[in-house]
Amino acid sequence: MCFSSCHADHEQNCSTSAVRSVGSSDVDPYSAVAAGIAALYGRLHGGANEAVLQMLRHIEKVENVPDFLEKVKQREEKLMGFGHRVYKNYDPRARIIKSHADEVFEATEYNPLIEIATELERHALEDEYFVSRKLFPNVDFYSGIIYEALKIPPGMFTVIFAIPRTAGWIAQWLEMTGDPDKKISRPRQIYTGAREADYIPLGERGGDDLITGPPATRPLS
Ligand code: CMC
Repeated sequence: MCFSSCHADHEQNCSTSAVRSVGSSDVDPYSAVAAGIAALYGRLHGGANEAVLQMLRHIEKVENVPDFLEKVKQREEKLMGFGHRVYKNYDPRARIIKSHADEVFEATEYNPLIEIATELERHALEDEYFVSRKLFPNVDFYSGIIYEALKIPPGMFTVIFAIPRTAGWIAQWLEMTGDPDKKISRPRQIYTGAREADYIPLGERGGDDLITGPPATRPLS
């Protein structure tokens, strides 16, 4: 089915780089893939498919789409399922998945959330805010609607996404572990933060100081 290939692994996205980073410490492939699944689950990555459903339910009806998009432009909301860290054009996977929605609905119950999604896409693609930022539907915009029609519980969405990704993750892991020049992943960092900070000796700190937050940014009383 087209879904599997649309969800295949590609390049150094967040979960794939997690697999490589964790795998580079010579863990077994199960542990490396578990790291990839953990990364994929995040709502800015594969978890966006569930976040899209929550957003569509929150919008409730097609008539509320313009108001919702205004809130996105005011940064009170985020348009989940839109945008991509690398692809600054219409994600072809979103187009393929959407084109199969009607076929799926013929075999399942119709999911009316697709009407809100379609209206969101239509408005956003005509709006300067989204056009100028090159924000287009991504692979997660329509997939959750279809998963839901297939009666896959939202808690299993990441699992469904991870199945086709695993082939690529394992290929990455194999390539890496077979490389005689492989090194453990160890990015360097350059500290650019404060060099000096106020310090309250432990014995002088009250309970509140321990709970509320960074003493370094709070004036000494
Ligand atoms: N809704 C509203 N504004 C957005 C969105 C969005 N979804 N994405 C980016 N922007 C704005 C952002 O506020 C910024 O505006 P400004 O320049 O005025 O500050 C501008 O667009 C550029 O944003 P960015 O943070 O530099 O974009 P990015 O390429 O680093 O982020 C992203 C990529 C996927 C994290 C982001 O687009 C996003 O959070 N999207 C919603 C979550 C989502 O759908 N994730 C799935 C990603 S694709 C498939 C996958 O990985 O599984």
